[in-house]
Amino acid sequence: MSDLEKIAVEVSVCTNCALHQTRKKSVPGVGPADAEIMLIGEGPGFNEDEQGLPFVGQSGQFLSELLAQAGLKREDVWIGNVVKCRPPGNRDPLPDELSACDRYLERQIAAINPKIIITLGRFSMAKFLPGVKISQIHGQMSRIGERFVIAMFHPAAALHQPPLKPAILADFARLPALLDEARAKLSPPAAAEKSAYTSPVTDEPKQMSLF
Ligand code: URA
Ligand code: SF4
Repeated sequence: MSDLEKIAVEVSVCTNCALHQTRKKSVPGVGPADAEIMLIGEGPGFNEDEQGLPFVGQSGQFLSELLAQAGLKREDVWIGNVVKCRPPGNRDPLPDELSACDRYLERQIAAINPKIIITLGRFSMAKFLPGVKISQIHGQMSRIGERFVIAMFHPAAALHQPPLKPAILADFARLPALLDEARAKLSPPAAAEKSAYTSPVTDEPKQMSLF
């Protein structure tokens, strides 16, 4: 069993916070184990709780459209949340729920090792970029250790506040370029450079024989 599968099994039976009492299904998250991009939302809503899958309701539909217009398929990215069980009535997750669930997200990030984490919503943003304002930093890439974090507006916010829609569309449209930038900045020295460096070493015995 892969690390991600193991985490999903643990999440499905987790009782580490009160949200387990009211959930129907926990929502561990979905996507490839080697995804370059992880999208991290807030928590399951009604439809996610029913299906055990992230972003399958109205905001999920919009998220799929945003990804598609950036040339990405849902299956290409990992999608999950900071809390894996639905807060009753879609209330905000509480600090002890966020901290109880954080261990799973941390392990998922370590297992996937993405180049870019996209935060959707303020709780996800606060985990990686504490103290910032979404209106000031949305769409910008910040390097955090071995990856980049980009805060985006939550798709549900853009659906409820139409003036935000052009901004979220523009931010997602820039994703392919940002991914190229992240790949270039995070990749180890190119193979060509390495071979240029190693060839003199291979020639070394010949040079030595001149002496
Ligand atoms: N909103 C979220 O933040 N996450 C979901 O999974 C669905 C809606
Ligand atoms: Fe466990 Fe997270 Fe669900 Fe709380 S929200 S019960 S910590 S999986």
